[in-house]
Amino acid sequence: MSTNAIATVACDVKDLALADLGKRRTEWAFQSMPVLQTIRKQFIKTQPLAGIRVAACLHVTTETANLMITLRDGGANIVLCASNPLSTQDDVASTLVRDYGIPVYAIKGEDNDVYYSHIMAALDHKPQITMDDGADLVSILHTKRKDLLAHVIGGTEETTTGVIRLRAMAREKVLTYPIVAVNDALTKHLFDNRYGTGQSTLDGVIRATNVLLAGTTLVVAGYGWCGRGVAMRARGMGANVIVTEIDPTKAIEAVMDGYRVMTMQEAAAIGDVFITVTGNKGVIAREHFEKMKNGAILCNSGHFNVEIDLEFVEEFAMRDGRRIYVLGEGRLINLAAAEGHPASVMDMSFANQALCAEFMIKNHATLEKRVYAVPEELDKQVAKMKLEAMGVRIDRLTPEQEAYLAGWSEGT
Ligand SMILES: NC(=O)c1ccc[n+]([C@@H]2O[C@H](COP(=O)([O-])OP(=O)(O)OC[C@H]3O[C@@H](n4cnc5c(N)ncnc54)[C@H](O)[C@@H]3O)[C@@H](O)[C@H]2O)c1
Repeated sequence: MSTNAIATVACDVKDLALADLGKRRTEWAFQSMPVLQTIRKQFIKTQPLAGIRVAACLHVTTETANLMITLRDGGANIVLCASNPLSTQDDVASTLVRDYGIPVYAIKGEDNDVYYSHIMAALDHKPQITMDDGADLVSILHTKRKDLLAHVIGGTEETTTGVIRLRAMAREKVLTYPIVAVNDALTKHLFDNRYGTGQSTLDGVIRATNVLLAGTTLVVAGYGWCGRGVAMRARGMGANVIVTEIDPTKAIEAVMDGYRVMTMQEAAAIGDVFITVTGNKGVIAREHFEKMKNGAILCNSGHFNVEIDLEFVEEFAMRDGRRIYVLGEGRLINLAAAEGHPASVMDMSFANQALCAEFMIKNHATLEKRVYAVPEELDKQVAKMKLEAMGVRIDRLTPEQEAYLAGWSEGT
C-alpha cells in the first residue's frame, strides 16, 4: 500500500497519470446526475456527515466517484475500495486520489488476494458507516476485523446479492449494526437493475464480441429485475429471447411477456448467447456445456462469478475441441467489458445511498441490528427530484379523490 507523494493521500491505484481522463469522465457523468447534484448542494450547506468516517466498497466508476465527492462535500471522511476485481475504472480511481483527495484502493484486474487486501486497507480507516455493494466489506468486518465493529454505527447496501447475505447474517444474529437495503428502494431496483443492467449488460457483450444480436437466440437465466431488463433490451435488438427460471410466477410472467420459457437443459442446445443474472450459483454447469453449440458465448451479470461453472467450461473446451467463449471471467460483464450503468440511472441509486447515509447518522441510535428498508418518504423524494429534473409533471390528487380513496381504505 503506498502513500502517494504527489497526492499525499493513502492509495493503491494503477497510475495517477490516468487522472486527467478520469476527471473529465467523472465531470461528464455528473451532468447526467441532477438529483445527486441537488443533494450535493444541500450537503455542502448542511454538512450531515461532518467528521464521520465512511468506508465504501463499490464499483469504482464515474458515478461512484460523484457519490464519493458528494459525501466528502457533506463532511465525510471517506475511503473507497473496489467491490469486484474487474469493475474498477483505473482513471476514475486516480482522479479521486489526485484531484479530490479521496483515498482509493482499487486496480482493475487485481487478483483475489489484492482485492481482499484493498478491503482490509479501507477498513483500516476505522469506518463508522459502511457503504457496500455485495456485502464483502461487511462480511470481512464481521469475520476478520471484529476489532473494528465497535466503531460502526450503521451501513447501506447497494445490491440484491448483498441484501440477501445481510438478511442471512441478521437472521443468524451475527449482524452487529443496522443496514439500509438501498437495493430495495423502488427508485433503485425498478430502474437501476432493470434499465441499467438491461442496457449495460448488452453493451458489455457487444463491446467484448461485436456480435450481431439480431437473429441470435439469446438465453437469459433469471427473470428478476435485472433479467427483465436484459430480456427486454435483447428483444429490442432483434434477438430471439429464451428465459429460464426456477420461480413459477416469474416464469409465467416471462411467458406472458412473450418470451419462450424452458429449462436450461433445453435452452443449452439452441442458445447462441447466454446471460446469467440470478444471484445463484452453478446456473450453467457441466450438463449444459455438453449440449452447447460450437461458438456459444456465455457471460454473467449477476454479482458473483459463480453463476457459470467456470472451471469446468475451460476444461471442457479443451477436451472436445469445441469453442465456448466465456466473457469477462464470468464476472459482471457490464462492468468487466463496458462502463456499468449509465449515470442517469445511477443518479437515483446513489441519491438513495447519500440520503440513506444521512438517515443512518440521524437515526442509528434507535435502530436495531438488522436490515431496514429505505424509508418510503426518501424513496418518493428521490422519484420527485428525478421527475423534476426531467421536466416531467404529474397530476395531484384532488381533495375529493383523497377522501374517496381514504373512504375505501376505511371500508365505508
Ligand atoms: N450487473 C449489475 O450491474 C447488477 C446490477 C444490479 C444487480 N445485480 C446482481 O444481479 C443479480 C440479480 O439481481 P436481481 O435484482 O435481478 O434479483 P432478483 O431476485 O430480482 O432476480 C433473480 C431471479 O433469478 C431467479 N433464479 C434463481 N436461481 C435461478 C436458477 N438456477 N435458474 C434460473 N433462474 C434463477 C430467481 O427466481 C429470480 O427471479 C444479483 O446477484 C444482483 O446483485 C447486478
